[in-house]
Amino acid sequence: MSKEMTLLHGINSLRSVRKFRQDPVSDEIIRSILKAATRAASGSNTQPWEFVVVRDARVKARLAEPMLRTWLERLSSGPRMTGRMKEVYDDATEMLRNTEKVPAIIYCCIDLNRVSKSEEVRYASILPSVQNLMLAAHAMGLGTCLTVHGSTSTRGEPEVKKILRIPDHVKIACLVYLGYPTVKLGPPRRKPLEQFTHYDRW
Ligand SMILES: Cc1cc2nc3c(=O)[nH]c(=O)nc-3n(C[C@H](O)[C@H](O)[C@H](O)COP(=O)(O)O)c2cc1C
Repeated sequence: MSKEMTLLHGINSLRSVRKFRQDPVSDEIIRSILKAATRAASGSNTQPWEFVVVRDARVKARLAEPMLRTWLERLSSGPRMTGRMKEVYDDATEMLRNTEKVPAIIYCCIDLNRVSKSEEVRYASILPSVQNLMLAAHAMGLGTCLTVHGSTSTRGEPEVKKILRIPDHVKIACLVYLGYPTVKLGPPRRKPLEQFTHYDRW
């Protein structure tokens, strides 16, 4: 881990990386990242997370087909994209086209038997761990991109679950593409804090 990267610097500089070098990500690094993920909070400390780490090129090749197909179907049925949004979607499409070459994909799943039946609690019990995962990766010089694509019934989840042999009682919450970035990205573009902040009342 880079000694200079403080927690706050990591949080403030985390970006979505969609272009990765071919270098593999070691078991040791994957373990450190997942350890950070599994330190997160969860409802009643149920720790309902399950992570499926895919690095096998043959498995990635099988996943690439339904992921890209359902993504392109989604794009063709949606509104025409322009400007910055189009750039993001073009990069997202390019990332999916390169699924086979991405060093690792981590499917972040919820064991529905281990957590409340409330949808809100389920997602609130997995997403802190995903953010930890991405921050830990960032701290170790890796890039990540979260997507929910491939995690809903209309966006490939049944096919993906079949390929990965994920049991019925486990739901894919999201997935994270992971690898060493090809370029260093600038700070995240965000609206000023004042636009979102309320003190004592709305
Ligand atoms: C719920 C969610 C879904 C996302 N889905 C995708 C996706 O399908 N493909 C993709 O490339 N990025 C996806 N992203 C990443 C966002 O596009 C990205 O966070 C946003 O454009 C801001 O860019 P930044 O993270 O580089 O600051 C997703 C992020 C979230 C939180």
